[in-house]
Amino acid sequence: MTDFRPLLDELRRICGENQVLTTASDVEAYATDWKRSAKGTPLCVVRPANTAEVAAIIKAAGSHGAAVVPHGGNTGLAAGATPGNHGDEIVLSLGRMKAIRDLDPVGMTVEVEAGAILQTVRHEAEKHDRLLPVSLAAEGSAMIGGIVSTNAGGINVLRYGMTRALVLGLEVVLADGTVVDGLRHLRKDNAGYDWKQLFIGAEGTLGVVTAAVLRLVPLPRDSVTALLSVADVETALGIFTLAQNTVGDALSAFELISATSISLVEKHAGLKSPIAAGEWYLLVEASSSLSGLETAMETLLTEAFERDLALDGVVAASHQQAQALWALREHITEAEAREGGGLKHDISVPFGAMADFLIEAGNAVAAVCPGAGFNVFGHLGDGNLHYNILLNGAADHEAVNRAVHDTVGRHRGSISAEHGIGRYRLSEWLRTKAEPEQRLSRAIKQAIDPGGLFNPGKLLPKTSIAGGAE
Ligand code: MLT
Ligand code: ZN
Repeated sequence: MTDFRPLLDELRRICGENQVLTTASDVEAYATDWKRSAKGTPLCVVRPANTAEVAAIIKAAGSHGAAVVPHGGNTGLAAGATPGNHGDEIVLSLGRMKAIRDLDPVGMTVEVEAGAILQTVRHEAEKHDRLLPVSLAAEGSAMIGGIVSTNAGGINVLRYGMTRALVLGLEVVLADGTVVDGLRHLRKDNAGYDWKQLFIGAEGTLGVVTAAVLRLVPLPRDSVTALLSVADVETALGIFTLAQNTVGDALSAFELISATSISLVEKHAGLKSPIAAGEWYLLVEASSSLSGLETAMETLLTEAFERDLALDGVVAASHQQAQALWALREHITEAEAREGGGLKHDISVPFGAMADFLIEAGNAVAAVCPGAGFNVFGHLGDGNLHYNILLNGAADHEAVNRAVHDTVGRHRGSISAEHGIGRYRLSEWLRTKAEPEQRLSRAIKQAIDPGGLFNPGKLLPKTSIAGGAE
């Protein structure tokens, strides 16, 4: 057993006595994931104030044989920031590094430190009539470093892309403590390999993202939200095509919500759907800097009714009504947790396969877990659903995961559309990812973090790097 006391002393010298947490009660919030399904035992939690301290911590950790687990808002849902159980990993919390270093409304960029809260940055951008277009239910806790490191999705991907599409520059700290300053505010930069792409969505396995330059867009002045109910997913996809033709490029969200999800929210969050029930609901949002959205949304609903696609529907008449409709969507994850939690899946398949996927996955899950419930919701406009299974008593989780992911595989989909692999999906990633793709991933890790210092056991198994058994 390594004696880490000299390392702890060094960390205290780097960050100050109060910024190195070691007691069980102090580290608890950092040692457990949001769902409370994964738990670890870190050596300590360390909270640096700036990039120089991050670099010093990483050097110290490396020289004493401890690993480093970068930690943001802890809202990723894949246990990507939860330490292992051997007491040899430092949780590196970026929460104190939250400065908005620069916001340029003309160049439409913002430079922020990794610990800045997404909502705070969005509010700051709004003051300048600009939008940071990453919108998540967890935006009050999610931090920019985590958003970048997980390549977060959310409800506006349909219009603006994943986080990757918004990152112009990064500052990262490598395993040997080198600070790489790529904080360029450029729209165009083809000067060599675009190395920052490797760190976006790497889940903290290659280095620590300490700051980022993100692209902003003009703040939409007008926004319209509608809720519709429909009988089946094929009809929902028909309405998606209709929405693309009527609302066009102003379409900013197209969310699918199952009747079960609505019942959970009604039961646990005290909310009520204002429209007649269907098997599925659609939450559709259009937003633009130009006016005329309400007419376009009314056209969408009129056509959906005339073609017998929608069972019922409403267009929000005020900002408050729109917020009430969005609350139905935003409370699903919390309502599921209150119901007892679900076995989460975060799948994507091509649009044309979505209806077949739902039938086939439903049958496959029922075969291995009779009586299971299905809390299905998500970003239909991106082909991405949260296909969460409400287990009825004891169940073979692995068999359920296999049932869902094998169906995903048959349709050439993804077992993680937006949440990442973390600890939670590692065994399924190893089981389902093709060998050449796994080999490429290992080669990248080997090239950038050959000692396996960063986030061991996330995204890739620990053994593949260190060479020894975990
Ligand atoms: C969402 O879309 O609400 C989030 O990805 C959270 C979840 O999957 O529960
Ligand atoms: Zn989502």
